[in-house]
Amino acid sequence: MQRAHAVTPGGVNSPVRAFNAVGGSPRFIRSAAGPWLTDVDGNRYVDLICSWGPMLLGHAHPEVQAAVQAAVARGTSYGTPTEPEVELAEEIVARTSVERVRFVSSGTEATMSAIRLARGFTGRDVVVKFAGCYHGHVDALLASAGSGLITFALPGTPGVPASSTELTLVLPYNDRAAVEAVFAEHGDRIACLVTEAAPGNMGVVPPEYVEVGGSTGGGAPRASGFNAFLAETCARHGALFVSDEVMTGFRVTREGQWGLDGKVEGWRPDLVTFGKVMGGGFPAAAFGGRADVMSHLAPEGPVYQAGTLSGNPIATTAGLATLQLATQEVYDHIGSAADTIKAAASEALTAAGVAHTVQSTGTMFSVFLCEGPVRDFTDASRTDTTAYAAFFHAMLDAGVYLPPSAYEAWFLSSAHDDEAVQTVLDALPAAARAAAAAGGAA
Ligand SMILES: Cc1ncc(COP(=O)(O)O)c(C=O)c1O
Repeated sequence: MQRAHAVTPGGVNSPVRAFNAVGGSPRFIRSAAGPWLTDVDGNRYVDLICSWGPMLLGHAHPEVQAAVQAAVARGTSYGTPTEPEVELAEEIVARTSVERVRFVSSGTEATMSAIRLARGFTGRDVVVKFAGCYHGHVDALLASAGSGLITFALPGTPGVPASSTELTLVLPYNDRAAVEAVFAEHGDRIACLVTEAAPGNMGVVPPEYVEVGGSTGGGAPRASGFNAFLAETCARHGALFVSDEVMTGFRVTREGQWGLDGKVEGWRPDLVTFGKVMGGGFPAAAFGGRADVMSHLAPEGPVYQAGTLSGNPIATTAGLATLQLATQEVYDHIGSAADTIKAAASEALTAAGVAHTVQSTGTMFSVFLCEGPVRDFTDASRTDTTAYAAFFHAMLDAGVYLPPSAYEAWFLSSAHDDEAVQTVLDALPAAARAAAAAGGAA
């Protein structure tokens, strides 16, 4: 870590890896297989980070590895069209709401490009986002809420000029009145509203359903999901609805969050961003959506977007192999392992007297160390980070590598077998007591 610090800011290549939120030093991982990470000192950990989402099938899956090794033997990048990128695009179009896709190399690039396309398509400039939603380090989206709710946002970090965020409006998540108000005032200037399909970057905060009256025919009240409301509001004002499925895509269900709401309710986002799982552990991401919107991209249309390594044959081969192996059984397995861990975490924290709430969407979940429900970023900010740090280190000492931040989802894979799950269950009671001792007692 000292050598890393000397040559790299914070010793890491992405800030949250650095353990700043929990103290101590990150482990340097030498290898990984299935649900296990092995560090350079030979210690093993059950991995509940899964590379922050991508490793849906666990590490070093033999069939993904074989596909990648065969692809590497054919050369690693040509800068010309290849078959794997078409096959991966076809798979994404078949599984999700999008009609056409364009590949990029990171989720950040995907959301940045989607916003440019939305602005180019609508001829409007204003972007609406929600506090606590992360869309990568895109200048225009690195805007915090603060007191700026329903006002033009301030940059969330030095280095982003105010001019980059002054066209970004930040609202509280799950707040329909705030959305109505901002569209009433600025509707004809709004190019798009971008939201995580189900936020996972402030911990998991599911989009809320409300009863809207009427009936579905069987006499039951009609329920409207927050995403349906956003899609409808955007359509009414001629703005595009951009659903960021970088984290949820191909993870919370086979069809991502859209499989839980849009597909059931009968609506589609105008644009969607993907990343993580679709790259199978390689740098690949995508944005896609309505065919008429996507045809505004160069070379068919005027909106420029490009990339030297976009659609890279190794990354698309890994992504394709991963998605082809991601059958319903994979999601059923992850869902049932998640249910076991959620119940055990809740039981251990309750026994230790620690205030907490467990929230999920599909197979993705997180544990907040505060009373629930957590509906938005203000609620999420109540989580006890001191108690989480103690909980995290007790888990790490017992061989479980949780995300080193209280505001992250815990990720599982189809490789998390009984032994891995049992290791997590065995570690929870002492970790809950450590959280209580550190100040998390209810
Ligand atoms: C919802 C969401 N969008 C975008 C991104 C950015 O993706 P990347 O880190 O690949 O740039 C992330 C990364 O965590 C994400 O969770």
